[in-house]
Amino acid sequence: MSEASNIRERSEQISMNILSIETSCDETSLAIIEANGGLSSPKFKIKKLLTASQIETHRPFGGVVPNLAKREHQKNLPLLFKKLVGKRSPTSKTRMSDFPDIDLLAVTTGPGLEPCLWQGIEFAKKIQKEHFPKAKIIPTNHLHGHMYSFLLPQKNSRFYFLDSRFFPTIQLLVSGGHTILLLMESLTKYKKLGETRDDAAGEAFDKVARMLGLPYPGGPEIEGLAKKYRSPTSIEFPRPMIHDKNYDFSFSGLKTAVLYYLQSQTNADYTQKNADKLPRKSASSPRKSAAAVAAAFQEAVIDVLTAKTLRAAKEYNAKSVILSGGVAANQALRKSFQLSTKNLQLNFLSADKKFQGDNAAMIAVAGYIAYLKKRKYPLKAVGTLDV
Ligand code: KG4
Ligand code: ZN
Repeated sequence: MSEASNIRERSEQISMNILSIETSCDETSLAIIEANGGLSSPKFKIKKLLTASQIETHRPFGGVVPNLAKREHQKNLPLLFKKLVGKRSPTSKTRMSDFPDIDLLAVTTGPGLEPCLWQGIEFAKKIQKEHFPKAKIIPTNHLHGHMYSFLLPQKNSRFYFLDSRFFPTIQLLVSGGHTILLLMESLTKYKKLGETRDDAAGEAFDKVARMLGLPYPGGPEIEGLAKKYRSPTSIEFPRPMIHDKNYDFSFSGLKTAVLYYLQSQTNADYTQKNADKLPRKSASSPRKSAAAVAAAFQEAVIDVLTAKTLRAAKEYNAKSVILSGGVAANQALRKSFQLSTKNLQLNFLSADKKFQGDNAAMIAVAGYIAYLKKRKYPLKAVGTLDV
């Protein structure tokens, strides 16, 4: 019997060990996850998760530099792998006797930066050959990683049933590269209702942060600055497409509105560099104004995301709402979703904050589902892979 069919023979209820690899952008991440329960009730136990962030490398450039990112993945993958397998890491060509058998090697193949994706793919092939000859490589969609991240163990673990008490579900996936609204009839049956026509929500956060002189990545910076502004928002930014009947989004007009607002404030210099030179506590200090801009921008984004997601939930009689992607780490956004879903008596699910940014744990979850669904992507980097 071939290795592949050997694995296929296993029942869905039997635990599988998945080693997952994520290198689509600026995080190098490896994980070992135990999965069982099949598609009807998938459960995951995180045995190990290691992530090397490249934020410091890219920060001086104000964004991710693809060639630098590729080089960092190349450097970090073997280092993380050594840490992952522990002190008794095998030398080349040895089997790992004291290491769990790995059934699947889930590796992100897209979307993302192709030179970075290739690093992960080549590494998966190398460790399969050298250490895990029985493991099957599962090319995995990064967006499915975010999409299924809500299945990862949660701190305040909530019990949920993946049946008609849970579906249909509306999921909003908001990251640095994507803003997608999905209708999910089941874990694997879904359709895209809408997406951004220009900038992704995270991208808008990053660009507005840059206008305010804040470092990359801008999302957490804007959130931090907005928190300092406690008064009701005093600047009214547009809520693009909020009343449009479709479920598409657009954030580039909002970004431009922020730019024009900043340009109109001729006496104010919003850059962090200059703000630091001025008294921070003065009521009219640019720092406070920058906080007001950050708060007003964030509020506009949250209003649009919440309104359109909840409208879709009503239209499709959703039983639950899921929020995912790097931007879902934003507490104000989570709060807005929590409140509005509560008002409509809908379940609200979102992975813990630490699983919203890119990580290999979510890739293991998506890999497990792809394997069970027998979904086959080619083992090659596809930068523009869709959901
Ligand atoms: O999902 P992710 O880690 O990478 C992609 O797949 O794109 O998302 C990264 C994006 C960045 O644009 C970052 O600024 C944004 O998520 N982000 C946030 C927050 N944390 C990360 N945006 C708003 N508020 C946050 N707290
Ligand atoms: Zn991502």
